[in-house]
Amino acid sequence: MSRLFLALWPDADSRRALAAEAARLAPVCGGAPLPADNLHITLAFLGRVDDARQATLRHLTADWSPPAGEWRLDRLGHFPGPRIVWAGGDIPAALMQWHDALWRTLAAHGFTPPRKFIPHVSLVRGAERPAPDYRLEHPVRWPFGRLTLVVSTPGEAGSRYRTLGRSRAPMAHDRD
Ligand code: 2AM
Repeated sequence: MSRLFLALWPDADSRRALAAEAARLAPVCGGAPLPADNLHITLAFLGRVDDARQATLRHLTADWSPPAGEWRLDRLGHFPGPRIVWAGGDIPAALMQWHDALWRTLAAHGFTPPRKFIPHVSLVRGAERPAPDYRLEHPVRWPFGRLTLVVSTPGEAGSRYRTLGRSRAPMAHDRD
């Protein structure tokens, strides 16, 4: 059994920009920045999954045809319970449709959708307080398009991630 999720990973430019925001915010919020390589948006958290269902998820991920689009992140949020400061922004219709379609497929395979989807990229963990101003210093444009299946191993210093599979890249002409 492993703890799995399906996510989008930023390209190099958006990762650099988000990592810079995380480094700026960590001392302001009293927490630790997430490592640049761990920055992502989760589309589906699946919890603990047995080997048979992992195989199903690998196939589903490999066969998925992702849409392409761009997500503009310009806001900051705070989850006081898990003490996370995160980046977000109005979710593009294509990304929301993708999320919904993904969950329809996952539900058909017996996975349970979350009660509420709050699209976010966690930037700072162990945050003692929210950012004083709820805006990113420099809005980030994140071109999305590839789905990644990831194993998460929780640890003292934060979660470690390992990629299990990826979808194909979107066709260039799909881009808005
Ligand atoms: P987070 O960034 O807010 O921690 C792996 O844990 C990924 O799945 C993280 O992106 C985490 O979001 C997300 N996630 C969503 N629902 C979760 C849950 N119920 N438990 C743990 N992680 C969850």
